[in-house]
This record gives sequence, structure tokens and C-alpha cells, in this order.
Amino acid sequence: MNAPQSMNEGISRRIVVGITGASGAAYAVRVIELLAERNVEVHVACSNLGKRLLAEEAGITKLDADALSGGRGERLVMHPGNDVGAACASGSFRHDGMVVVPASSNTLAKIAHGISDNLVQRAAQVTLKERRPLVIAHRESPIGLTEIEAMRKVTEAGAIVAPLAPGLYLQPKSVSDLIDFMAGRLLDLLGVDHELPIRWDEHLAGQREKKADNRSTPR
Ligand SMILES: Cc1cc2nc3c(=O)[nH]c(=O)nc-3n(C[C@H](O)[C@H](O)[C@H](O)COP(=O)(O)O)c2cc1C
Repeated sequence: MNAPQSMNEGISRRIVVGITGASGAAYAVRVIELLAERNVEVHVACSNLGKRLLAEEAGITKLDADALSGGRGERLVMHPGNDVGAACASGSFRHDGMVVVPASSNTLAKIAHGISDNLVQRAAQVTLKERRPLVIAHRESPIGLTEIEAMRKVTEAGAIVAPLAPGLYLQPKSVSDLIDFMAGRLLDLLGVDHELPIRWDEHLAGQREKKADNRSTPR
């Protein structure tokens, strides 16, 4: 990952988040919230269907920076989703990576074929051509050959496809545990540090400590 490129005071890096019309708006909100908490400057682009999903699944009816970031709206730059002339539509806009979350099959296919009908697609295309990290958090099930082919193409072009499929091996107790698992993995892929309890090695270490505690407890 390149050195931080933002010149704004207190900002450690700059990430573009694209939101599209796939189920999983909560993942987008959580990723944005976590990035903003870590002093990342977050540039948000949302497709028309992405707006609908935010409203239907997360109750966000107005694309509002505070609503998307848990009250840290000052860290967000909101771009009109249809403005392919926005800053992040240009290769000259320096950033540290982009995540499309959730990513619909439509957007996945458009990125795979170099089509830029809206800002999410254009920003993703530019991220690829500039060889910056692009993470595509796809959501659809089942998938067919068109999605598989599109995944192959974007992977060959340098993107990482990270299906929104949280692991169950840490025994999640709630929906927010599942969302945090995926959000944490997406931050990992963007090279952004976090302390979410999503790591198998730490889980094993915790289990070993518990066992040791139980053994030392007098019966
Ligand atoms: C409520 C709702 C849920 C949807 N869920 C998905 C989904 O999980 N995955 C997907 O690929 N498309 C889903 N779609 C269809 C996409 O929104 C549709 O293909 C749209 O054209 C995507 O546009 P976009 O990629 O520009 O956001 C859903 C649509 C609606 C209305």
C-alpha cells in the first residue's frame, strides 16, 4: 500500500467506497463507520439502486454523511452517484484503494467490461487502470457463469473479489457479529488496521487461556 496521500490534517489515508444495489447495505454503513473512526478520508459514491437498498435495508432515506458514518460525517466526502466528472472519476485523484460494498452483479459485470455508466463504475475502472487496490464485495446467490466470468476478468485486471460470505468459525452471536466479520476482512484487504475480534489465531489463543484458567481454578 502506498504512503498516505491526503493532505488534510489528522487524515491518515483516503479510501473510495462505492455502494450499489445489492443486498447488504449494513456492510457499507459499517465499513464507512470503521474507516471514519480510523481517521480515513472516505469518498462515497452510491448508485441509484444503492440508494434504494440503503433506504430499504438500513432506513437511510437521504444520503447523509452523518447517517452513513455513525456521526463522523466530517470524514466523508459525498459524491453524486451519477457524476462521472467527480474527483474520484479521474486517475489524477490519489487514493489508497477502493471498495465496492455491496457490489451487485450488474456493477461487477460493468467493471469487468470497462463500462462506466455511473461514478461507482468509473471510479472502480480508474482504480484498476491506476493499479490501486480495488476490493469488490459481491453479493448474489447462487451465481452463474456470467458472474463467474466477470469475477475472473476483474481478478485478472487486478481486483480482489471478496464475496459477502462471513465465516461462522468464531461462533457469531448476532447479525452485527457477522457484519463485523466481513467489515474487518474488507479493512484488512484495504490495509487499514483495526481491532475487531475476527482472527482465528487470537480466538485459539483466547480458548487456550480459558482452558488454562479452568485448570488452575480450585474445585
Ligand atoms: C431489494 C433489492 C435487492 C437486490 N439484491 C441484489 C443482490 O443481492 N445482488 C445483485 O446482484 N442484485 C440485486 N438486486 C438487483 C440490482 O439492484 C439491479 O441489478 C441493479 O440494476 C443494480 O444496479 P447498480 O449495480 O447500478 O447498483 C436487488 C434489487 C433490489 C430492488
